[in-house]
Amino acid sequence: MLQKIFAAVFMAAVAIADPGYSYTSSENNQILNPVILGYTYEGMQSYDLRSLAQQQHDNMFNNLWDGSTFVNGKPCGNTGKFNVWDWAVVMQSTVDGYVITKNSTMSDQLDKIFKGMEEFYDSSMKAYHVTPDIGNSDIDYDDNAQIASAFITAYDATQNKQYYTRAQDVVSFLLDGWNKNYGGVTWAYNKSYIATISTTESALAALRMYNAGDKQQEYITFAQNCLDFLFQTMWEESDQLFYDGLGTLTTKNTDHFTYHEGTALSLASMLYDMTKNQLFVTYAEKLISVSLNRELGLYNRDYSNYQLRFYKDGANFTQLMIQGLVDYHNLVDPLDLSVTHEIARSVRYLIDFTVADKGYFGDPNASQNSQTTTNNWNHAAGVSDSWTPDLSQYCNGDSSKDVNYQLLYQASMARCLWLPIPIIEIL
Ligand SMILES: *[C@@H]1O[C@H](CO)[C@@H](O)[C@H](O)[C@H]1NC(C)=O
Ligand SMILES: *[C@@H]1O[C@H](CO)[C@@H](O)[C@H](O)[C@H]1NC(C)=O
Ligand SMILES: *[C@@H]1O[C@H](CO)[C@@H](O)[C@H](O)[C@H]1NC(C)=O
Ligand SMILES: *[C@@H]1O[C@H](CO)[C@@H](O)[C@H](O)[C@H]1NC(C)=O
Repeated sequence: MLQKIFAAVFMAAVAIADPGYSYTSSENNQILNPVILGYTYEGMQSYDLRSLAQQQHDNMFNNLWDGSTFVNGKPCGNTGKFNVWDWAVVMQSTVDGYVITKNSTMSDQLDKIFKGMEEFYDSSMKAYHVTPDIGNSDIDYDDNAQIASAFITAYDATQNKQYYTRAQDVVSFLLDGWNKNYGGVTWAYNKSYIATISTTESALAALRMYNAGDKQQEYITFAQNCLDFLFQTMWEESDQLFYDGLGTLTTKNTDHFTYHEGTALSLASMLYDMTKNQLFVTYAEKLISVSLNRELGLYNRDYSNYQLRFYKDGANFTQLMIQGLVDYHNLVDPLDLSVTHEIARSVRYLIDFTVADKGYFGDPNASQNSQTTTNNWNHAAGVSDSWTPDLSQYCNGDSSKDVNYQLLYQASMARCLWLPIPIIEIL
């Protein structure tokens, strides 16, 4: 409640500074401010995030759910199964929506998603495989960590014990993923690559398990070890960001993705909230500063104009950055307006430049999506890119056909819309 008041007060302050642009449906339209967003385009309107998120959730089920499972390529008339990562994110996005709406249809959907995931579950490993091909498919720690977090938050929201007991099994699998030689959590079971994302997300799952009632000190120790490891071993000083991972201590993969810093931000914020140890504020502040720094590699740096620099990743990764920003706002510093503004900018970017007819594209580059998103970007950025569609996003690789909606992107986008609602309602 307090946070909401802070947000309202500060956004009202922002509204006063508005230089006088007007938009359709401008009532209570504080955040849709060109100074914050850095752009405008013809026909731009504001959105009520609650209804946009509900619409996205409904579209996702209408497009991809066949009554008993999610079908890959349903809009294109194909059949096929999605990977368990997609399922993890749709479970989480449905929890996020249920927390906001308390819509009982959505809690029924949680139960159906949980059941649909059973075909990925390996009861001897107490973990989920990437594909239902149990025995032959990998078991990834990052997927399992997202699954555990989704189940724990589903338990928190519904008190349904099936989610809690399954999450306990998965969390014990995650703790076993700690690499005893180098530290960190490996990407997949039986594989050697140590991944930043597996390390952050496994730590988050352990902390959430603790908060949900399984109060084992081991969970907190594990999470602290994970964060210490990341700063000691995975931090790349030259880029001021984490490595993606390590093959051994000498073969570093220096890819940078927003979900590394986003999940680490959630982790540092939660550890601070739970322990009140100032060390975690130091970590969180370092992470927030690199996450908002448009000179660094989390942003698309094609444009010299900083107003046109947005997170370079699609919704599949950005959702975890949004979560990190929201966690930092809630648990560390609700008064830092630059955080609120970046949540608004990055969500609004996805709404404006990755939107399709019945959902969203996965590609963050407007000119690779549709003619409409290309036009919006050209107008907003003052450029004249031509539409060069990423054909893999369309049915049969044909840009005159429907979009081949992917569950991962639809669920990720739903999260990007649900997560900010306690802070920002109108965007
Ligand atoms: C509740 O959720 C269902 C399923 O997504 C949706 O069809 C329905 O419109 C929602 N109800 C409200 C009041 O938003
Ligand atoms: C892990 O590796 C061991 C030894 O090579 C093998 O027997 C086992 O089947 C593997 N397990 C999985 C789930 O890949
Ligand atoms: C998710 O997004 C990243 C970064 O934008 C991209 O490289 C990756 O291919 C996407 N992953 C999937 C499975 O679509
Ligand atoms: C988008 O893709 C086009 C074509 O590949 C490229 O020229 C442009 O620089 C990209 N823009 C951004 C913002 O990534």
